[in-house]
Amino acid sequence: QGDYNYSFSTGEVLKHLNKFYKRKEIQRLGVENGLDARLFHQAFISFRKYIMESSSVSADLHIILNDICCGAGHVDDLFPFFLRHAKQIFPMLDCMDDLRKISDLRLPPNWYPDARAIQRKIIFHAGPTNSGKTYHAIQRFLSAKSGIYCGPLKLLAHEIFQKSNDANVPCDLVTGEERVFANEDARQAPHVACTIEMCSTNTPYEVAVIDEIQMIRDPARGWAWTRALLGLCAEEIHVCGEPAAIDLVTELMYTTGEEVEVRNYKRLTPLTVLDYPLESLDNLRPGDCIVCFSKNDIYSVSRQIEARGLECAVIYGSLPPGTKLEQAKKFNDPDDPCKILVATDAIGMGLNLCIRRIIFNSIVKPTVNEKGEKEIDSITTSQALQIAGRAGRFGSSFKQGEVTAMHRDDLVRLREILGEAVPPVRAAGLHPTPEQIEMFAYHLPDATLSNLIDIFVSLSQVDGMYFVCNIDDFKFIADMIQHIPLNLRSRYVFCTAPLNRKEPFVCTTLLKFARQFSRNEPLTFDWLCRHTKWPLAAPKNIKELIHLEAVHDVFDLYLWLSYRFLDMFPDAVLVRDIQKKLDDIIQIGVCNITKLIRASQSAAAPGTAEVVPEDFPLSKDARVVSGRQGAASTEALSIAVEAAGLRRARSSRPSRLGSRQEDLKSYGRGSLANRLLREGLLTQEMLRQLESEWQDQHRNGRYGIALGNLWDSD
Ligand SMILES: Nc1ncnc2c1ncn2[C@@H]1O[C@H](COP(=O)(O)OP(=O)(O)OP(=O)(O)O)[C@@H](O)[C@H]1O
Ligand SMILES: [Mg+2]
Repeated sequence: QGDYNYSFSTGEVLKHLNKFYKRKEIQRLGVENGLDARLFHQAFISFRKYIMESSSVSADLHIILNDICCGAGHVDDLFPFFLRHAKQIFPMLDCMDDLRKISDLRLPPNWYPDARAIQRKIIFHAGPTNSGKTYHAIQRFLSAKSGIYCGPLKLLAHEIFQKSNDANVPCDLVTGEERVFANEDARQAPHVACTIEMCSTNTPYEVAVIDEIQMIRDPARGWAWTRALLGLCAEEIHVCGEPAAIDLVTELMYTTGEEVEVRNYKRLTPLTVLDYPLESLDNLRPGDCIVCFSKNDIYSVSRQIEARGLECAVIYGSLPPGTKLEQAKKFNDPDDPCKILVATDAIGMGLNLCIRRIIFNSIVKPTVNEKGEKEIDSITTSQALQIAGRAGRFGSSFKQGEVTAMHRDDLVRLREILGEAVPPVRAAGLHPTPEQIEMFAYHLPDATLSNLIDIFVSLSQVDGMYFVCNIDDFKFIADMIQHIPLNLRSRYVFCTAPLNRKEPFVCTTLLKFARQFSRNEPLTFDWLCRHTKWPLAAPKNIKELIHLEAVHDVFDLYLWLSYRFLDMFPDAVLVRDIQKKLDDIIQIGVCNITKLIRASQSAAAPGTAEVVPEDFPLSKDARVVSGRQGAASTEALSIAVEAAGLRRARSSRPSRLGSRQEDLKSYGRGSLANRLLREGLLTQEMLRQLESEWQDQHRNGRYGIALGNLWDSD
């Protein structure tokens, strides 16, 4: 059967092809054959290209096209040819039934036969923050013969580990990067505290505690809570968290046939929303904590506090745990002169802080949406409650908590947000297991891991109570290391490594780890020291501080991998040692943070508000163990470019400007303010202060004088 040249006009063919594409019947046929809207579209584009761009098409197709063009055939007749073409570019269409079966996620309770073999009882400790939920669950954990605590953060796992051992209940610690045994001979203790991703679903326990259950809805990490809830092998499962998750947990347990008992708790100390904003940092009092949602705001606020002769502690997500604890200790210590805390929402969980009053510096938080686009949104009620609830913690020196905002208009909105009901948690996260992906790979040997994941997600079927978690991070790493020869299992493990993809140094290091690994060359301590230029000195400016934080992350990555590939990452003990030292060095930097800010600002354009170009410091803790939300996969390219020494290929600056302009718009400020901001003569903070002073003076009828003062003092 030979190929034929065209004997009809391409314009006409195009018209018929487009008609074919738009027909509902054809789309339906596509779906029946495994082509969802996305695949259908891709297959069509390729089919059209094949017809329009290749000089010849197969004889049978040529005849059909000819018939259609002269009115003797119908566009629907193209379907078999279209499908033949689609199967060439999407080989999985031929094994669709098998793939569908593998990616069927409709009955997750069945994945855990050990848990299904026993009768479990679920006790839901529900209540607001600081109501004693975890306390009561832990009391039961301690009194049991054996128990497991599963928390969202390393810090929380550490706290329970400590508490348990202090109470003479030997307890091990298991996180992605660390194993500590209570028994010296490394025999497993009957109790264990772990980060939730690390919990074992095969070991039987008398009591299990799942903390912060509302995180089951987390777009990236929710799967870990679902797995723990359905899969833990314990007679009693104590679940702690927001009442908003009660209905979903009850429904899920309905499918496993297990009883749920709800115990409700009330806040242990009163929390008052003040009816006046802070307005100025001059009004700060001991025990105040200012909450910011960007590192730059942290820097700017802490500098202004220092300029008033006050000392402040600083806590944000990407600081190492030791530094966070040290800063918390300093702030909590009644004998330390440091009585003000500047923090991001990283304080929302896991740290014991003696805060009297929470002050929201702003109520908008930059996030990344499902499409990977940056967005600036008001915080949710759940987030606001979580943060505000830190004030007046039970057992701290403040018997009641207060909450307010820095600015009047924010306070109005904050009151509204805090007054809204938290929407119920509707669905629980799921994610594909390595076994499922392995089976996919068996059927589709030529697909890349990232493609396998895409196909898996597009074919997977889930029940209404579940959703498939966002696996952008996984795909990001998969794309980044695609060209490195690795077997599927190892590749999969690398892809689940905890990684902040905004951190080019960490990304390139992971790439180097993978390359060494693929050459079967062990990653030694010496290699790591060379690569990180260890030993490192205390930071002299903010940029250096940020780099040290990235190096700390690299050590974490090494330790994480060392538990998965013991012989290839053999020097965990030494790495842990230098990581502790690095934590101390970072602590020195953070203690001197205002000096570092000053150094950074004088190095940058005078008066520049921004100390770091990157303005998107999402809390590190949210991604510590697993992934995080993120931008498009094209970032892989930019990592490659950055790796080649061309940093700033993908500048994050426009978004900062974007958000500033948003701010400007929302504050109704004109072009002068805009220009001053641009020229670095004004900072956002100064602008806000000016605005409130302006308003005050306007109210006091001192409008003209204020204006005069403004220019005089300049
Ligand atoms: N009955 C109690 N006796 C002594 N201390 C308690 C008691 N209940 C709670 N606490 C202490 O009060 C503090 C807050 O309790 P807990 O951590 O259990 O609150 P929570 O409801 O879990 O809050 P969050 O939602 O923030 O996790 C803790 O320091 C805890 O040890
Ligand atoms: Mg708790």
